[in-house]
Amino acid sequence: MMSPSESIPAKVMVHPSQFPGVVQQQLVVSLRAGHVPPKFLYDSVRQTQKWLEVHQAHSPSRTSEGVSRMYDAVFDTALGQAQRGAMALVGLGCGGGQKDTRCLAKLKPGATELHYVPSDVSQAMTLVAREAAAAVLPLGQVHPLVCDLAETDDLGQTLDDILPAEVKRVYTFFGMIPNLEPDVILPKLNCLLRGEDQLLLSANLAPGDDYRSGVETVLPQYDNAETRDWLLSFLEGIGVPAAVGELVFGIEPIDELLRIVADFKFVQPQVITLGGERVAFERGQALRLFFSYRHTVETLAKRLARHGLQIECSEIAGSGEEGVFRVERAG
Ligand SMILES: C[S@@+](CC[C@H](N)C(=O)[O-])C[C@H]1O[C@@H](n2cnc3c(N)ncnc32)[C@H](O)[C@@H]1O
Repeated sequence: MMSPSESIPAKVMVHPSQFPGVVQQQLVVSLRAGHVPPKFLYDSVRQTQKWLEVHQAHSPSRTSEGVSRMYDAVFDTALGQAQRGAMALVGLGCGGGQKDTRCLAKLKPGATELHYVPSDVSQAMTLVAREAAAAVLPLGQVHPLVCDLAETDDLGQTLDDILPAEVKRVYTFFGMIPNLEPDVILPKLNCLLRGEDQLLLSANLAPGDDYRSGVETVLPQYDNAETRDWLLSFLEGIGVPAAVGELVFGIEPIDELLRIVADFKFVQPQVITLGGERVAFERGQALRLFFSYRHTVETLAKRLARHGLQIECSEIAGSGEEGVFRVERAG
C-alpha cells in the first residue's frame, strides 16, 4: 500500500555522471575490460529490490541489535557541537536511507533548519531513502540527488546549488568503503570537507587478530543464496543467462588489503548486445562481478592517512565486524 508521502511528486536532481548515454558507455567499456563497476549491481528498480533483500537478510546493521546501537552511539558522541544551527545531512550512497534517517532524528532536536540530500547512483534508492526520511522531515527539505561519486569531481558545486550556503554539512558514507577503490574515492571525500563539516563513515572489518582468517570468517555473509541471486539477476538483466557460467567467490590480496571477490566464469561462449554494441565473452573467461574490501582499524587508518584524512572517534561492533568512524582532514 502507498504511504501518504509516496503520493507526493519528488524533484530529483540527476548529475551528468548518471545520464543514460554515459552510464551505458561505461558498462560496455567495463564489460569488455572484464569487470562490472559496483554501481551497476544497484542501478535499477529490480536490482534495488534484490539488494534490499540481501541487506535485510545479511547486513549486521539489520540483523544485529548491537550494530544498530553502535550507529546510534556514534551519532550521539561524534556529532557533538555539529548538532546545532542550520544543518544538512548528505547521504553519500544512501541506499534505503535507514541509517541516515536515524542520524536525522538525532540531528533534528538541535537544528534550527535541517535538510537531507539522499544521494546514490540509483534513483530508486534515493526515493526509498526519501520515503524513509519522511518520518522525520518535511518532504520539501529532502533533495534526492542521483550521482556517481566515483565519476564526479564537482559534487561540492552540485551541493552548493541544492543547499543554502550557511548550512553545516554532515556527510555519511556508510557501507561504501568496501565497494569503491580507496585511492579514487578518498581524495574526493577530502575535497568535499569544508571548515565545520563532518564525515561519518563505516567500514566492514575483519574480526579477530588475524586479518586473513577474519576475512575467511565473514565469507558466508557474501557466498549465500540472496547474494548469488542479486549478482546473477544483474547478469540476466543484460542478457547473460545464469546457466552459461559459474559464480565463484574468493579472497584477493591487493596492495596490503584483502577483499572478497565474486567472478562469473563462463563455461560456454556468450554474446550480448547493449545499445547496438556487441560484447563477446569466451568460454573460460572470468568476469569480475563483485568486490568488497575488508579492513582492520589499522589498515583503514593507514589508507585514510594516505589521502590526508584521520579518524577522530570510532565505535566498533562487539562482533568486530563493523566500525563507524568520524573522520576529519588531517591537521
Ligand atoms: C552497500 S550499499 C550502502 C547503503 C547505505 N549507505 C547503508 O549503509 O545501508 C551501497 C550503496 O551505494 C550505492 N553506490 C554504489 N556505487 C556508487 C557510486 N559509484 N556512486 C554513488 N553511489 C553508489 C549503491 O547504489 C548502494 O545504494
